[in-house]
Amino acid sequence: MNIILLGPPGAGKGTQARHLVETRNMVQLSTGDMLREAKDSGTEMGKTVADVMARGDLVTDEIVIGLIREKLEVASEHDGFIFDGFPRTLAQATALAELLTAIGKPLDYVIELRVNDDALVNRISGRSTCGKCGEVYHDETKPQPTDGKCVKCGASDFKRRADDNEESLRNRLMEYYKKTSPLLGYYYAHDMLKGVDGLADIDDVQASIAEILDS
Ligand code: AP5
Repeated sequence: MNIILLGPPGAGKGTQARHLVETRNMVQLSTGDMLREAKDSGTEMGKTVADVMARGDLVTDEIVIGLIREKLEVASEHDGFIFDGFPRTLAQATALAELLTAIGKPLDYVIELRVNDDALVNRISGRSTCGKCGEVYHDETKPQPTDGKCVKCGASDFKRRADDNEESLRNRLMEYYKKTSPLLGYYYAHDMLKGVDGLADIDDVQASIAEILDS
């Protein structure tokens, strides 16, 4: 089963992808995580994208398609791919279709997490993640444990993202509406689009996604 989780910044793509990885032996391919890794390890590409990401602009299609191509070559032993934050443009969507056709693993569903902008501001401004394993927390809905240790890996290294500020979020949202939301029509036309209520509790969103995958 190969799926895309589609939605604006803070919609819950990463949270849901991590759950699917834990429960279904699927692999999460998050271009955001790949780019942050490149940035943190100081590669040339990481240096190129750092400012772009901090502003909330999209990184070039060429770079992100290259990243996904590399990952697809080494991730085929899993029971399916979860594309998280990719594709974000029509050019990325057509490149993905070609890459998946070439390896004989077509897309099954594109799951749109439907949320509203007010919820996104709250989610992004309250988010933190474990610096070691990437577990996602929220100040109100999923606070960091009181003993200061990550529930998943026990590390005490919580981080807030550089682009989780109001100005960058405004830009990320604008990029989403301009360049990514047209993909909803594209995948609807390909009869792959399913929508879930992303404003529901995390468990309920998980259940709605499971219903689609098991249908
Ligand atoms: P990326 O890392 O992909 O960020 P994003 O799309 O902005 O999405 P987020 O990671 O912010 O949100 P999410 O939907 O995963 O939400 P989460 O689960 O964390 O991209 C970052 C940047 O990289 C881009 O701006 C761009 O520059 C570049 N980039 C990446 N991919 C690219 C591409 N393909 N092309 C070009 N450039 C690219 O949840 C958010 C918070 O809400 C958490 O605190 C969580 O606990 C909470 N939460 C989640 N679900 C619920 C719920 N149901 N109820 C209550 N709280 C919830």
